[in-house]
Amino acid sequence: MSQDSASHEVPAAALNLVRGLLSDATAMARSGLASSADIDTAMRLGAGHPIGPLAFLRGLAPEVRARHDLAEPPAGNTGGDRTEEGHEAGVWTHPVGIAGTGTMASGITEAMVRAGVPTVVLARSRGSADRLVAAVTRSMDAAVAKSRLAASDRDGALSLLGTTTRPDDLAGCGHVIEAVAEHRDTKKELLARLDEALPAATVLATNTSSLTVGEIRADLPERRTVIALHFFNPAKAMKLVEVVGAGQDTTVLDTACAWVRRIGKVPVRCGDERGFVVNRLLIPYLNDAVRALDSGAFTVAEADALMRRALGHPMGPFELIDLIGTDVTAAAQSMLYEASGDPRLEPADGLLRLVAEGRLGRKSGTGFHDHTTPSSRSTALVPAPPPIRP
Ligand code: 3HC
Repeated sequence: MSQDSASHEVPAAALNLVRGLLSDATAMARSGLASSADIDTAMRLGAGHPIGPLAFLRGLAPEVRARHDLAEPPAGNTGGDRTEEGHEAGVWTHPVGIAGTGTMASGITEAMVRAGVPTVVLARSRGSADRLVAAVTRSMDAAVAKSRLAASDRDGALSLLGTTTRPDDLAGCGHVIEAVAEHRDTKKELLARLDEALPAATVLATNTSSLTVGEIRADLPERRTVIALHFFNPAKAMKLVEVVGAGQDTTVLDTACAWVRRIGKVPVRCGDERGFVVNRLLIPYLNDAVRALDSGAFTVAEADALMRRALGHPMGPFELIDLIGTDVTAAAQSMLYEASGDPRLEPADGLLRLVAEGRLGRKSGTGFHDHTTPSSRSTALVPAPPPIRP
C-alpha cells in the first residue's frame, strides 16, 4: 500500500481485495495482540507493503472508509520501526542450529551465514543436507552474479556452514531454530528429540507459520525454554522476525530481539496466537483473493497487476501464494480456520484444488502461475472464469 494510495484515489476493486486485511488489522490492534506500530512494521517488513494497514486506513478519507465499511483504526503511533531495545538480558554469541532443509530452513541458513553467524544444520539424511548446501550455494552464486554479494563474502559465508544428521551435534549451539514441515506432530516430535539431546540451557525456537508456541511446547518439560522466531520467505531478503513466547519468560525474548537486530533484521513482539501478526493478516487476504477469483471477480493476472499498481505491493496475491506454496498457504489457512471457526477463514476451493493437483507454486514449477521458464513468472495459468459482473 503506497503512501500516495492512502487516499480516495485507490480503485474500489483494490480496496475490496484488502478490505478483510484492513478490518483484521483494526481488530488485532484493538485486541492488544500487537501494538499498532508493530502491526504496521510487521506488514512493511514481513510482506513488503510500502505502508502498514493501520497507517493506510488512517490516510483514507472518512467517506471512503464509510463506503467500504471500514472502521477508523484505534489511535496509536504507526510511524517508523520501533527502536527501543528493551532491557537486554544477555547476548547469544554461540553458533545457531537450524533443523530442517526445506525452503524456509535454506533461506534462514543463508541469512545466518551471510550475517556472519556460524550455523549447523540438522538434516534427516546426508542427501537432504547436501541438497540444502547446494541450494544455499546456488542462491549465493546468483547474488554474486547480480553484484548483491562479493565473491569473497560468499566464500566466507559458506565456510560458516556445517551440517549433521545427529541432534547431539547441535550441543554447542545457543539456540536451535526448527523450520520443518508445518505439521503439529512433526514439529512436536522434533522438539522432543532436541530436548532429549541438548543441554538444558539450549533455547528451542520454532519458525511455525500457523501454530502457537504454547501448543508446540505442550509436551516438553517446563524447564525447557521454547520461543518462536518467525522468519519470512524469502528469508534472505525479508527483514522481519516475529519474536513470540508462551508467556513464561520475557527475559529470553529481550535477548532474542537483541540477537535478531545483530543479524541485521527487525524484531516485532506479539502475543501467542495462531498466525502471529503477519500470517493472521496476510493468509486470509490471500484466501479472500482466491475466493474472489473463484467467483469470477477478476483473473489471476488482473488481480496481481492491480495490487502491484494500485497499492504498491511487491507481489500480487497469486504471485505471493506461489512463492509461499499453495500447500503451505492452505495448511496455514486451515490452522487459522480450526482456531476460529470463522467461515471466511475456511480454505478457498481454488486453493485446495491446486494443492490436490500438485501445483504447489514455484517449488513445483506451477501454481497460479507457470514458473518453468525464467520469463514465465507472470504467466497466469488459472484461466479467466466466465464473467459474472453485473
Ligand atoms: N537481500 C538478499 N536477497 C534479495 C534482496 C535482499 N535485500 N532483495 C531481493 N533479493 C532476492 C530475492 O529473494 C530474489 O531471489 P531469487 O532470485 O532467489 O528468487 C532475487 O533477489 C530477486 O530479487 P529482485 O530484486 O529481482 O526482486 P524484487 O525486487 O522483486 O524483490 C522480493 C523480491 C524481496 C521477494 C519482493 O518481491 C517481496 O518483498 N515480496 C513479498 C514477499 C512476502 O510477502 N513474503 C512473506 C510471505 S509469508 C511468509 O513467508 C510466512 C510463512 O510462514 C508462510
